[in-house]
Amino acid sequence: MKELTDKQKAKIDELLEKMTLEEKIGQMNQISPSIVGGFDVSFEELIEMMTDGRISKEEFEHMMEGATQDFHDDVNRAGGLGSVLVSDPKVINKLQKIAVEETRLGIPLIIGFDVIHGFRTVFPIALAEAGTFEPELFEKTGRIAAKESRASGIAWHFAPMIDISRDARWGRISEGPGEDPYLASVFAKARVRGLQNDDENPENYVAACLKHYVAYGACESGRDYNTTGMAKSMLHNIYLSPFKAAVSEGAATVMAAFNDLNGVPCTVNSYTLRNILKESYGFDGFVVSDANAIRECIVHGIAEDEKDAAIKAVSAGMDMDMGTWIYHNELKEAVESGKLDISYIDEAVHRILSIKMRLGLFEKPYVTDEQMHRYDQLPEEHLSQALEVAEKSIVLLKNDDVLPLKKTAKISLTGALADMPEEVLGSWSLSGRASDCVTIYQGLKNKGADVSYYPCCGPEDSINEAEVKAAISEGDIIVAVVGELVSMSGEASSRADITLPGRQRELLKMLVDSGKPVVAVLMNGRPLALSWEDKHIPAILECWHLGIQMGNAVANVLFGDVNPSGKLTCTFPAMTGQCPMYYNSPRTGRPGSKSKFTSRYLDAPLEPLYPFGYGLSYTSFEYLDMDIKEKDDCLNVSVVLKNTGKRDGSEVVQLYMHDVSASIVRPVKELKGFSKEYLKAGEERKVTITLPKNQMGFYDDNAVYHLEDGKFIIYIGTNSKECLEQEIIINF
Ligand code: BGC
Repeated sequence: MKELTDKQKAKIDELLEKMTLEEKIGQMNQISPSIVGGFDVSFEELIEMMTDGRISKEEFEHMMEGATQDFHDDVNRAGGLGSVLVSDPKVINKLQKIAVEETRLGIPLIIGFDVIHGFRTVFPIALAEAGTFEPELFEKTGRIAAKESRASGIAWHFAPMIDISRDARWGRISEGPGEDPYLASVFAKARVRGLQNDDENPENYVAACLKHYVAYGACESGRDYNTTGMAKSMLHNIYLSPFKAAVSEGAATVMAAFNDLNGVPCTVNSYTLRNILKESYGFDGFVVSDANAIRECIVHGIAEDEKDAAIKAVSAGMDMDMGTWIYHNELKEAVESGKLDISYIDEAVHRILSIKMRLGLFEKPYVTDEQMHRYDQLPEEHLSQALEVAEKSIVLLKNDDVLPLKKTAKISLTGALADMPEEVLGSWSLSGRASDCVTIYQGLKNKGADVSYYPCCGPEDSINEAEVKAAISEGDIIVAVVGELVSMSGEASSRADITLPGRQRELLKMLVDSGKPVVAVLMNGRPLALSWEDKHIPAILECWHLGIQMGNAVANVLFGDVNPSGKLTCTFPAMTGQCPMYYNSPRTGRPGSKSKFTSRYLDAPLEPLYPFGYGLSYTSFEYLDMDIKEKDDCLNVSVVLKNTGKRDGSEVVQLYMHDVSASIVRPVKELKGFSKEYLKAGEERKVTITLPKNQMGFYDDNAVYHLEDGKFIIYIGTNSKECLEQEIIINF
C-alpha cells in the first residue's frame, strides 16, 4: 500500500470538514448482513437454538429456505455504513454503488472478510505453514490470497492471526504461527508484506488486520474467550512481540481480542490500544473490535449499558464497531450530551478514511466482470504454490525405517479422513471449494499407487470391523489417516482432552495388532497427545490441514519424491495434563528432575513428546564445530552442517540463547534466528546465523527494555532440545 499523497491528505481533511456527525459515526460502523424472514426470533437466537438442540439441523435449514439477507441499504444510503463483512462480488458491487453513487459524500465501503490461509486457493493452516520456516513462502501465499480476494471486491483481510499460543487445548492455535514470539514476528511481517505489497496496482493488494490484540492465546486453561492475566514483562516479551513487529512493517489495521487482559477487556483497554499501539508503536491505521465484542463489555461487567460500552470503547481507541450497531445507535447522543469528545470520533474517522484512500477505493470502488471471473479456473501458478507449501509444511515425527514407501507397495488406506474433501481445508476457509480439494486417497491415486481404501472409522464414527479386517488382509502396508475434523479446531473449539478423538486410537490398535506395518498420517489443527501412538506405530507423519493440494503433497512425501523438512511450531505434550506446555518457559528454582521436590508431575513425564522445532527427514544431519564470533553489535554463530544420509534434504538450523543471570527470570531458551539449508547427500556446509546484540534483552515489568551484561549460553541445533552450546560473556 502506498503512503498518502498530499492531495489525498487534503481530500481527507476536506471530507472531514464536510461530514455530519452521523456520517462520521457511519464510517465507524461495520455490519454483517442480517438474516431475516421465515422465523420470529433473531438469526443469532436461531443458531443458538440449533446449537443447544431446541431445534434440529433440518428444522434450521427449513427455516433458512424462507430467509433473506438484509444489507441495510437505507442506512448505507444515509452514509451510515463504513464497512460490510461479505464476500459475494455482485453483492459487494451493489453495496458499493449505493455508498459511492447515492450517498451525500460518496465515500466507498471497505469490504472485510476472513481470509486466513488463502481465499479460493486454500493453503495450509498457519500453524503448519510456519513450520516451513520459510517466511518468503508466507509472503507469497499471502500475495496470492490478496489478489484472489481483491478480484472479488474484498480489500481487507481479517488476518494475519498472530496470537502466540502455548496451550494445545485452545482450538485457535491452528490459526496462527504457534508458540514462539520470534518465529511469529518474522511470519507476521512476511504476511503483512504479502498482503499489502507496494505493487503500483491496488488491484493486487489488501489491508492486513493483525489479530487478536492481545494475549487472546493466553486464555486461562485453553478455553476460548476465557480471561487472561499476566505481568507486563510477559505481555511485552511474548504476546506483543509479533504485533510490534507487524506494525513496524506497516500493517494497516488491528482487531482487538475478545478477552479481558488483567481485568480490562481488550475492546476497551486504553493501555493496550492507546498507550502501546497508537502512542508507543506509532500505529497509524485503524482498530476494529471483534464480532459483537463491544456489547460483550456489558456481559464482562465493565460497561453498564450500550452507551457506556460505546463511550468506553471509543475513548480507549476502538475506531470501528464490528457488528453490534452500538456506535450507530449511541455515539451521536454521547457526543451531543458532552459525554464523549468529538475529537475521538474525528481521529477514528481520519484513520478509517486514510486506509480507504490508500487502498485505492476512492478511485476504483468496483470490481469488473473480468475480475470477478479471473480466478474461476485456478491458475497453475496458484496450484503449484499450494502444493509446494503443503509439502514443506509436513513434519515427520517418527520413522522406524518404514518410510518412504516403495512405489510397488500394496497399500491399504484407512481412516474416513482420507477421503473427505472439505476436511483438508482447515478452520476458516470460507471461500474454499470442495471441488478444488485433493484428498489423500485421491493424491495416492494421482500418483498411480496400488491403493485400496477402507474408511473403517472417522473422528466421530464407530469402527467398521469388516473394513478393518479387509484392510489388514489385503495390504502389505497400512496407511491410517487419523486426526481431527476441521470443526474440532479454530474458534470455539477448545478441547480438554487432546488425544485422538473418538475411537481412532482403537482403530490404530487393531491395525497394529495385525502385525502389518502401519504409517499414521495425522490431519489435525493443534498438537495432539500421542504417547501411545509414538510407542506403538513405526512411522508418524504430521500433515495438519494442508489446504487444497493436501492429497498430492502427502502422496509425494509418503513415496519419498519429496523429503519432509517441516518443523513443529508448537510443543507436542505427552499428555493433556501438561498443558500449557512450551519450550521457552521461565526458569524455576527447582527444575524438574527425578527427585521428588522439583517442578514435576507424579504421573506425567517431565518432557514433551516432541519439542518445538522438532521434525525428522529421510536423511540425517550432523552438527559440528560450533563457533561464535563477536563483531561490533552482533554475534555471528556458525556451525558445520553435514548431510550424513543417502538423500538430499533440507534442514532448519535453529539458534537459541539463554541469559544465565538477569534482573528478572528469563526463559530456559529463546529462539533468536534460523536458517533453512538444502544439502545434497554427503554435502557439508558452514552455516552462520547473525544475532544482533540489541535482540538479546528483555522487557521488565514496567515495559522498559533492558540489555544486561553478563553470561549467556548460545545454542545451535536441529530443535529446541538437541543443540550444541557455548557460553559467552557479553558487555553491551
Ligand atoms: C473471530 C474473528 C473474525 C470475526 C469476523 C470472530 O468471531 O474471533 O477472528 O475475524 O469473527 O468473522
